[in-house]
Amino acid sequence: MAAVRRAEPGDAAALARIRVETWRATYRGIVPDAVLDGLDVGESRARWERTLKGEGASGLHVYVMEDQGGPVGYVGVGPERGSLAGHPGEVFMLYVEPGQHGRGFGKKLLCRGLSDLAGRGLLPAVVWVLHDNPARSFYEHMGGQYLTRQHIEIGQPLVEDAYSFTAWPAEP
Ligand SMILES: CC(C)(COP(=O)(O)OP(=O)(O)OC[C@H]1O[C@@H](n2cnc3c(N)ncnc32)[C@H](O)[C@@H]1OP(=O)(O)O)[C@@H](O)C(=O)NCCC(=O)NCCS
Repeated sequence: MAAVRRAEPGDAAALARIRVETWRATYRGIVPDAVLDGLDVGESRARWERTLKGEGASGLHVYVMEDQGGPVGYVGVGPERGSLAGHPGEVFMLYVEPGQHGRGFGKKLLCRGLSDLAGRGLLPAVVWVLHDNPARSFYEHMGGQYLTRQHIEIGQPLVEDAYSFTAWPAEP
């Protein structure tokens, strides 16, 4: 049965693969093709290896959803990295591999991440999501409240919306 657990250094390859696959599947038509085609699993894996070995130093906590064949999604949470008033925590990343959507994994991961932040006194938490990403309505469905927006650059100018979570959604 699928379950959420803390990420370990040995998960680096799986996290890199999931990140590249979900970026390409989700952001095609939103982020320039050149950025997506240039994503490199090996580079991402090396970055994850460094991150997971040093996990804790930055306050980043990563959890994976482990299914029979290995990790199929992950969430990363920690202290907010910007200067958003009243939001000490942040959900930095939440990815479920494309073939595994709709199985409740995203919700379980979000719940685990937000409860981790609550345990560290880091709620309310913010999550930034590209305005054109369909995941925006996922966060709304999970109880996130629209907060603000900002302009960013990922190969071209893009708009990102911030959602605020003061608690996590009830699990079935
Ligand atoms: C967004 C994402 C994490 C959702 O994960 P998921 O495992 O498919 O979602 P779940 O199966 O846990 O869905 C939980 C609930 O949200 C709903 N939901 C899922 N995706 C939704 C969407 N895009 N819009 C509205 N509701 C959505 C489901 O219907 C379900 O509703 P219910 O609890 O009332 O039955 C996943 O689609 C994903 O990884 N997307 C690509 C990466 C991404 O964009 N991440 C966010 C970057 S900020």
